[in-house]
Amino acid sequence: MSKLLHIQASPRKDRSHSRAIAAAFIEAYKKANPSDEIVPVNLFDMDLPAFDGLAVQAKYAILHGKDHSGEEQLAWQAIEAIIEQFRSADKYLFSIPMWNFSIPYRLKQYLDVIIQPGYTFSFSPEEGYKGLVLNRPAAVVYSRGGAYGKGTGAPGFDKQEPYMAQILGFMGFTSISSIVIEPTLAAGPDAAAACREAAIAEATEIGSGF
Ligand SMILES: Cc1cc2nc3c(=O)[nH]c(=O)nc-3n(C[C@H](O)[C@H](O)[C@H](O)COP(=O)(O)O)c2cc1C
Repeated sequence: MSKLLHIQASPRKDRSHSRAIAAAFIEAYKKANPSDEIVPVNLFDMDLPAFDGLAVQAKYAILHGKDHSGEEQLAWQAIEAIIEQFRSADKYLFSIPMWNFSIPYRLKQYLDVIIQPGYTFSFSPEEGYKGLVLNRPAAVVYSRGGAYGKGTGAPGFDKQEPYMAQILGFMGFTSISSIVIEPTLAAGPDAAAACREAAIAEATEIGSGF
């Protein structure tokens, strides 16, 4: 039995396009893998630890081989719990709206929490940086109000998909499927409905073979 972690980065719940496309993916996935476990991680509803001064201090204490103080230990335990949940999965599905050409701040916070040396990547002067989340596929749904694909004249504005590809690659992911739904706003409701239908079909296909 595999565990699929669904990381949800839109706060719009049932109104969310990215979540609706992810739901189609999951429906197809469940049909093909009825005994697998699907674990939703709602980034806007969960208690996500701040990566604040104390957390940074705790991180640097580890880097410099020092013991944690009591308060650093507590802060680091909260970080480790989130990392452990992330690392416990066999497969990953992200649903991500574009916010200001990039990702929502809660997803950035989540990434700042989970991307830690010795946990999700390693570094040594001999080998450089190496990802530690290996042999696990990821699928990412990207929703955008505008359009950024080829022929739109705006692909350079997209800091959402290239960033996710880079950061997932940094953690060791090599198999990443992308499903884009755009434009959900800029070209009106008919265009939104058409791109949603196309994205649902793509998500269903990818989800059934994931
Ligand atoms: C805070 C905020 C910032 C946004 N920034 C952009 C943007 O830079 N480019 C864009 O095309 N759409 C932008 N949008 C629109 C969303 O990407 C679009 O509505 C998308 O479908 C939302 O996905 P969701 O329905 O899954 O939440 C923004 C929306 C919000 C709420």
